[in-house]
Amino acid sequence: MNIIEIDKIINPTPASDGAGVKLKRSIGVEPNYYDPFLMLDEFGSENPDDYIAGFPPHPHRGIETVTYMLEGHFEHKDSIGGQGKMSPGDVQWMKTGSGIIHSEMPAMKEGKLQGFQLWINMPAKLKMNKPEYIYIDAAKMSVHKDNNKQVKVIAGKFEKAEGPVKGHNVEPIYFDVELNKDKEFSFNLPSTHNSFIYLISGEIYIGEKKHSKLIDSTLILLDKGEILKVRARSNSKFLLISGKPIKEQIARGGPFVMNTKEEISQAVEDYHAGRFVK
Ligand code: FE2
Repeated sequence: MNIIEIDKIINPTPASDGAGVKLKRSIGVEPNYYDPFLMLDEFGSENPDDYIAGFPPHPHRGIETVTYMLEGHFEHKDSIGGQGKMSPGDVQWMKTGSGIIHSEMPAMKEGKLQGFQLWINMPAKLKMNKPEYIYIDAAKMSVHKDNNKQVKVIAGKFEKAEGPVKGHNVEPIYFDVELNKDKEFSFNLPSTHNSFIYLISGEIYIGEKKHSKLIDSTLILLDKGEILKVRARSNSKFLLISGKPIKEQIARGGPFVMNTKEEISQAVEDYHAGRFVK
């Protein structure tokens, strides 16, 4: 069993999306694609000007979007009748399939907003499926707690805590880990998967080889291996995300991700012709 080391350390790029929400983008810029993950954005600010414009109605096809709120409130609405308010700790896991139009708008005028949006690619055989989503209420989330750490399980399984996303083609793992100073987090990752850590706050040390300092808002791509060991140099909070690569050709067109350029043109055409929502 080999210890997992760091493959690459990436500082996110400041970006803006929706109607001008300021965010830090890592996957989607550098690296452009980390199969099966298409995008990872950390959005968050204490300044309402950075988030108030929100994400007005826009379409998606061929991907899954996973939104995880850490602070603040978002109101979401979509074309399949979904509507609700996201509160801190809530997760919305949406399989857009053939097409969904949704909006995500801040339900707050001041205060701190913080969260993540992850895009997971869908394989060709599932891209045109009916849209569906899973909503995970913070209060119902499966959590492991001991003296050294807390692991919130959004997907996958840690000890006895298990996430609600079952039978998924990329066998996703999505943990939110809080690790106390000088303590260790250890987990066996499938060697078939691409895995990364996103450090939210604190300082951590990964694996056994010497590496440069890892602090706030850093994306850390992990080598393939079996045993992940993370030690906290100060009280730290990070996301551990892992998924089995899809290994298909991808074609991107903004909010649409398909396999070919023709399929992107088709999505744009369907959207403009009002055939998008089935
Ligand atoms: Fe969206």
